Amino acid sequence: MSASEYKRQAAELAAEMVEDGMVVGLGTGSTAAFVVEALGRRHKEGLRFVAIPTSVATEKQALGLGIPLTTFGEHARVNLTIDGADEIQRGTLNLIKGLGGALLREKIVAASSDRLVIVADDTKLVDHLGMKTLLPVEVTSFGWEATARQIERLGGQASPRRNREGAFFVSDGGNLILDCRFPVISDAGRLEQDIRSIVGVVESGLFVGMATDAIVAGGEGIAHLTV
Ligand code: A5P
Repeated sequence: MSASEYKRQAAELAAEMVEDGMVVGLGTGSTAAFVVEALGRRHKEGLRFVAIPTSVATEKQALGLGIPLTTFGEHARVNLTIDGADEIQRGTLNLIKGLGGALLREKIVAASSDRLVIVADDTKLVDHLGMKTLLPVEVTSFGWEATARQIERLGGQASPRRNREGAFFVSDGGNLILDCRFPVISDAGRLEQDIRSIVGVVESGLFVGMATDAIVAGGEGIAHLTV
């Protein structure tokens, strides 16, 4: 089976966790898109829930499927958020997210969620964060070069993300993303705090202590991991 099929398997299982009456956080990315698709089906079958999307792309997909949307103005808490990740640390379920560029909204929704379920294929599981992917950090466009230098003082190399045309990638929040190469991250909590304390940083893609569950599919089957 392909990685995409494993992503779908994990997504379909996670979508079954949504119950009648819930406020649901909808993630962003190719795996989360399978979740939204499955929830669109469940909505048509009669399941009643409202959703908060974590990106413009997810919002469009959800609206296209008729999923009723809501906001934090109407609901203070989210019962369950289902989202993808770029790396999942075995044991802690600490994450790197944001290669899709939606890390800020994803983190706002995750921080207000009673349960954050991560869906992924098993290539995303790592022993230490930073082993496979760069760490995205969302920064204000004003002064990004100064912000990048401060990140480099923490031991990372920071490059602004660009789109195919070579222009700066701009997030849904109107900010830039610095993709940062750190040596393997041994203390994710500490690095998250250090990055966050830099003026000009909006958020980092380190999600520490936020995920409660991970549903991971691969050649050896589907595992439901919890902390
Ligand atoms: C979006 O900003 C990201 O956090 C995604 O959730 C993450 O990149 C996983 O994406 P895929 O499911 O497409 O691998």
